[in-house]
Amino acid sequence: MIKVAILGHGTVGSGVYEVFEMNAEKIALAAGEPVEVKYVLDLRDFSHLPYGNKFVNDFSVIENDPEIPVVCEVMGGVRAAYDFTRRCLLAGKSVCTSNKELVASKGEELLKIAEEHNVNYLFEASVGGGIPIIRPMIQCLAANEFNQICGILNGTTNYILTQMIKNGVSFEDALRQAQVNGYAEADPTADIEGHDACRKICILSNLAFGDKFDPDAVSCEGITRITLKDVECADRLGCVIKLIGRAVRCGDGTAYAFVAPHLVRKESPLAAVEDVFNAIMVEGNATGDVMFYGKGAGKLATASSVCADMLDCIEHREHRRRISWGDGSKKLLRPLEGFVSPWYVRFQGSRAALEAALPCESVREVGGELAASVSALSTGELKARLGKLEGSVLSAMRVL
Ligand code: HSE
Repeated sequence: MIKVAILGHGTVGSGVYEVFEMNAEKIALAAGEPVEVKYVLDLRDFSHLPYGNKFVNDFSVIENDPEIPVVCEVMGGVRAAYDFTRRCLLAGKSVCTSNKELVASKGEELLKIAEEHNVNYLFEASVGGGIPIIRPMIQCLAANEFNQICGILNGTTNYILTQMIKNGVSFEDALRQAQVNGYAEADPTADIEGHDACRKICILSNLAFGDKFDPDAVSCEGITRITLKDVECADRLGCVIKLIGRAVRCGDGTAYAFVAPHLVRKESPLAAVEDVFNAIMVEGNATGDVMFYGKGAGKLATASSVCADMLDCIEHREHRRRISWGDGSKKLLRPLEGFVSPWYVRFQGSRAALEAALPCESVREVGGELAASVSALSTGELKARLGKLEGSVLSAMRVL
């Protein structure tokens, strides 16, 4: 019997407990012996639960228990989560997490401590919820250089956009439902302003390019400025709107990384990704494009990834996984101004002025406004040209 501990009994933590209960037999087969959750750390009162006797509110009980080789940190945030993760690793315990904020901000340091103490720090659930993406990148695609990563990385915003586009639900109502479904972050600003997707594209970039991409330095735009008019214009141009995280490697080894809403052509497989589902396209220089699809958020989907990491730690106690990236000193992130892309521009003003300012491929009139598809321009060039244009630029998004 292997004993483990869960730090945090929120949406994901309670899901981890449920998966260990629900799939106990299958998990015992995978681990080679039964796995028992010995402790759940949470300050709140859960004494009414059938497993209420497992709750502790003193972290040192877990830290000092030699019977616990593997812990999952599903508390979220960086303060206590960082402290407890560090102390677990220093105590020779492997840690598995869904905490993308912590992995993106302190991952390199925690991975180093894990290496020094010959234990694992695994974070499959930190990107794409229930989708296997981290392990495929570090194992199955390990022989590739990564050229590009492009994906829908946030379940809450994809759910909101889908509800707005398909069912005409208001932004506020769709967000409320995403919270009820357990998709949103404790503070949903992180979802709707793109910070959550930004942390995820940084984690994938760290793995792909080997050095830290700092979420504070990566350009990040959310979905709060998207209107139903944009949705309608996108449709008229044969597209849907999606919040996309992208990382694109350049010939010299530097890379662009950013999060922004895009118009996605309806023929693209990403256009069909709806509701809480995420999809991530990874281009390796040997394998070509590979696409990963599944539920990007939610209790059991995310818990599935956390539990699988815990099983991996149990199975590989003697042979830790070699995962690391640098501290950011290689300065791989390129300024986004140079990134070239086709664009969509929504504009109120003279058609002749718009066509004179931008290389328009097509311009449609939609309810008294103009919606243009614009040929490839760098971000800096587009901004400069829009700055000189007389009239109102109502929105500008890249087209994928
Ligand atoms: N709030 C996140 C999302 C949870 O909606 O994708 C999963 O990381």
